[in-house]
Amino acid sequence: MTTDIDADRVLIFDTTLRDGEQSPGATMSHAEKLEIAEMLDEMGVDIIEAGFPIASEGDFTAVRAIAERAKDATICGLARANITDIDRAWEAVAPARSPRIHTFIGTSPLHRAIPNLDMDQMAERIHETVTHARNLCDNIQWSPMDATRTEWDFLKRTVEIAIKAGATTINIPDTVGYTAPVESAELIRRLIAEVDGGEDVIFATHCHNDLGMATANSLAAVAGGARQIECTINGLGERAGNTALEEVVMALRVRRDIMPWSTRIDTTKIMNISRRVAAVSGFPVQFNKAIVGKNAFAHESGIHQDGMLKNAETFEIMRPSDVGLKETSLVMGKHSGRAALRSKLKELGYEVGDNQLKDVFVRFKALADRKKEVYDEDLEALMREQAGGE
Ligand code: KIV
Ligand code: ZN
Repeated sequence: MTTDIDADRVLIFDTTLRDGEQSPGATMSHAEKLEIAEMLDEMGVDIIEAGFPIASEGDFTAVRAIAERAKDATICGLARANITDIDRAWEAVAPARSPRIHTFIGTSPLHRAIPNLDMDQMAERIHETVTHARNLCDNIQWSPMDATRTEWDFLKRTVEIAIKAGATTINIPDTVGYTAPVESAELIRRLIAEVDGGEDVIFATHCHNDLGMATANSLAAVAGGARQIECTINGLGERAGNTALEEVVMALRVRRDIMPWSTRIDTTKIMNISRRVAAVSGFPVQFNKAIVGKNAFAHESGIHQDGMLKNAETFEIMRPSDVGLKETSLVMGKHSGRAALRSKLKELGYEVGDNQLKDVFVRFKALADRKKEVYDEDLEALMREQAGGE
């Protein structure tokens, strides 16, 4: 039974290959999608949303190939609320050891206006399509798109219809990144408490990052009772992106004291997959991105470097090895101090006495004022110059 998970577990649903790939320009090749899916499966992702099979022949073939190869993860295909989409999604995911169909419809007033359905017609469509999907597959996820801007009474009504028709996971998308943490938690809490059958399904949270709150909103939803977080590697996704997998997973790990929920993710695989997704999607990771940015474990200022040399916990709440990085990097620049310079020189094979350090430090500062970052080769050149001058 898909809804049977330990009370303290949160399922990780990765949609890098579906919502992530919807980022303008982030298209991946068939081989790249298979490679990313294999990495996601190996790192312990519970559900991989492999694509939107009706969208193109290429999407269909990729989802099917991923379904055939997946070893552990549930493989999910997206479908709009119509029979053709659902049948195509089922055809693509059916070979999986554990297949899931994810079907959705926009329920907010703005989204209802697009297919021009009134509330009763939409309710009927949800009943028909979820029933159809459930007759094909016993693992069905249903999403009211733009849930966070849907009227409460209608949201509750549609969720109840989907559950009665056989949905096993109810995903609550914050499609335009509009909600805020207090509201996100309260919405899930209220759905679980007030929806008929709410206690028999898993509630999921799917947040976009338009206001930079996707991670906070996802974790708040978990505090409200959600047990599935939908996310992408590097936060790839439409517009400002989706919740970043690495952020929610590491937040749950580092702050287990106040967020007592666990995932199955092998966090030591995070850095590797982040780099691979950046390379194949063509979306570089910003330098100061939480967890996976180039600077996330780098320290330049003298006070920070000195603290780090004495005790890494002074300025790091995670170890670099937790996310698969070898070590913290002490970046040598104009803010670096003597202790860091001495330690860096030692690493490069130069043991310097106090007087020599004083002299190199003056030259190093002069160089650092001209250059943003002083590399190992620059320091070696300084040491050679100094030896030549003596
Ligand atoms: O953001 C969204 O609403 C979606 C749905 C398809 C779940 O991605
Ligand atoms: Zn989305």
